[in-house]
Amino acid sequence: MSRLQIRGFQIFKPRLDMPAQRSLIEALRPVLKSAPLFSPDTPYGKPMSVRMTSAGRYGWFSDKSGYRYAPQHPSGTAWPDIPPAVLRIWDAVTGLERKPDSCLINYYGEGARMGMHQDKDEADFSWPVVSVSLGDDGLFRIGNTERGGKTESIWLNSGDVVVMGGPARLTYHGVDRIRFRSSSLLPKGGRINLTLRVVD
Ligand code: SIN
Ligand code: MN
Repeated sequence: MSRLQIRGFQIFKPRLDMPAQRSLIEALRPVLKSAPLFSPDTPYGKPMSVRMTSAGRYGWFSDKSGYRYAPQHPSGTAWPDIPPAVLRIWDAVTGLERKPDSCLINYYGEGARMGMHQDKDEADFSWPVVSVSLGDDGLFRIGNTERGGKTESIWLNSGDVVVMGGPARLTYHGVDRIRFRSSSLLPKGGRINLTLRVVD
C-alpha cells in the first residue's frame, strides 16, 4: 500500500485487497436491496448521472429544494445500517471514537460523472470525510477551497481510500469520468464510491 498526499487529501492506494473488496460488495448487497439506488434531481432540475442511496442515520438527498440529509429513503423506509466492514475502514483510517452518521453509496454506470463540488451539508467540518472506491477506475479531480483555479487529477482504482480532512475538508472535488469495465469486481461493470460522513 502506498500513501499519497495531494492538496491535503490523503490517498491510500490500495487500502483494500481483493478479498476485502469482494466482501465489501457482499455486505452492500442487502443494503442495496432494502434501499435501492435512485437518481436524485439536482436543484436545477436535471437528474444526476450518478445513481445513489445511503446507509446510516441519515442519507444524502437532493431535489428542487436543494441538497440535504434525509432520515428516510424516498420510498419512505429508514436507511439500512452501515455495514460493520465499512465502519472498520473508517476506524482504521481516522482512528476516531466518533462513528460516521451516513454512508452515501454512489454508483457510476457507463458515462456517469460528478461535477466539481464541496461537501458542505454537514454541521461540523472538523470531522473528516472518508471515501472508498470499488469497481471501475474513476478520474478524480481535486481543486481548491474556492471555486475555480488550477486542479490536479488522479485515477482512483478499486480498493483505494481517500481521507479529506483538516484544511482540505472543504476542497472542491469531482469525478470527470470512469473507465467502464476496467475492473471485474462488479459483474455489470461500473464504479461504486462510498462516502462516510459525520452529519450532526
Ligand atoms: C463525491 O464526492 O461525492 C464522490 C467522490 C467519488 O466518487 O470518488
Ligand atoms: Mn463529495
